[in-house]
Amino acid sequence: MTSVTAFVEGWDFVQTLGEGAYGEVKLAVNNETQEAVAVKIINLERMPQAEENVRKEVCVHKMLKHDSIIKFYGFRKDENIQYIFLEYASGGELFDRIEPDLGMPEVDASRYFKQLIMGVEYLHERGVTHRDLKPENLLLDDFDNLKISDFGLSTVFRYQGRERLLEKCCGTVPYVAPEVISRKPYHAEPADIWSCGIILVALLAGELPWDEPTYSCQEYCDWKDCKITISPWNKIDTLALSLLRKVLVENASKRRTIEQIKKHQWYNKNFNKHRGASGLQSGSPSDSPCGTRPFKRQCTDQDGDLSRICSSQPELPPVQPRSQLSSLDDLGPAISFSQPLHPDHMVLSQFPCTPGNSQTPMQKLVRRMTRFFVKTDKTETLVELDRACETLGYSARRGSPGFTTISTKDKRAMPLVFKACLMEMGENLLLDFRLSKGDGLEFKRHFMKLRHHMKKVTSRVPPQFPLVPTQQSQPVL
Ligand code: ADE
Repeated sequence: MTSVTAFVEGWDFVQTLGEGAYGEVKLAVNNETQEAVAVKIINLERMPQAEENVRKEVCVHKMLKHDSIIKFYGFRKDENIQYIFLEYASGGELFDRIEPDLGMPEVDASRYFKQLIMGVEYLHERGVTHRDLKPENLLLDDFDNLKISDFGLSTVFRYQGRERLLEKCCGTVPYVAPEVISRKPYHAEPADIWSCGIILVALLAGELPWDEPTYSCQEYCDWKDCKITISPWNKIDTLALSLLRKVLVENASKRRTIEQIKKHQWYNKNFNKHRGASGLQSGSPSDSPCGTRPFKRQCTDQDGDLSRICSSQPELPPVQPRSQLSSLDDLGPAISFSQPLHPDHMVLSQFPCTPGNSQTPMQKLVRRMTRFFVKTDKTETLVELDRACETLGYSARRGSPGFTTISTKDKRAMPLVFKACLMEMGENLLLDFRLSKGDGLEFKRHFMKLRHHMKKVTSRVPPQFPLVPTQQSQPVL
């Protein structure tokens, strides 16, 4: 969705945070107080069928209040456009912190995993299942705290103490539990817990263990046969692996519950005590995967209604196609936004949006890792980008001013689309990439390949966070 004509007085749409088949998520900032909210915009003219899904999403999300869950602020409808107002998570998406094929230090994975489990435990206590847990739907706030987002596929599985079995096959195939694709009724809680296990593999190994949990998939058969000397299992410490062996259990009734996971030794291991004097505080990620400093795995001791489902995207229900949101222009702490004190105000008043404002003394404050400075000027950079895309067999197309849309297929032959935006950052030119469509980890892999193919023009200056704001950090048109 590109044009939004009416919004709320005093609030400017600053930036697109993510996009999907439903529309976009934009960052809105109050021009007086600098309060920030994320606004999910759904254009019913384009997708009239989405209305019922949005109603359900709002209905579920508004009953949730927990530190590990993106806050729901409100909802409004202006003719054919629906807006969902959400807590803005300035740290971007969790997948952005995962180094392809390496993962992240175990201390960070442990912290994120615990926050995930606390959030999922809360959801289940409230009788809600998310049904599309994956790193792309896990956002990070200013303090690097994990926030579960996107309740578009969520549903209530327990009401007034009575549980109902689910039948709908939905989610994102590499993350879904075997019973979800078995076409038989299944329990909601173990299915979410399975996805948490796959997320833990992604965090610790930087790859997903299989394309789908079926016997047609060799990697899944290998896991069932206990072949753990191969990747990704051989990258994971034995204690974490012992937890995974109990979570990624095909029989849902034998799978560990959240209560049991919380008692596991890996879950309770204090990783901070294994860190040297230079260890960072637990509030910040230790080394930046894919970012400024090379990341090495830390050494630790060893204690010890059926419908189509596709591989790297959620099921596309006939009514409301969904796709991933991408982590976008997350803002670093140099300009600090606060979350709104009175989000209701946004929902009650209206005003004509100021599209000219979609830029940004802030665009520069991004904490995303999928970007690098270049030493070349705009023309030369774009020539190099096109050349690298050609070498890698990607299609590159200039779309809206300042943006290049790059399309390819991932290793599962699923479409992968991302956007490159060239931005001036003071003296420097920054080439910034964000995912439009496809699997987050695959996007990171392709970003790294592209960066490698552009190394002739890549500046040795790594993007530091926060990036220093300047008046010129607009996309270079
Ligand atoms: N992308 C999608 N939803 C978001 C949110 N609430 N905050 C930041 N980025 C997002």
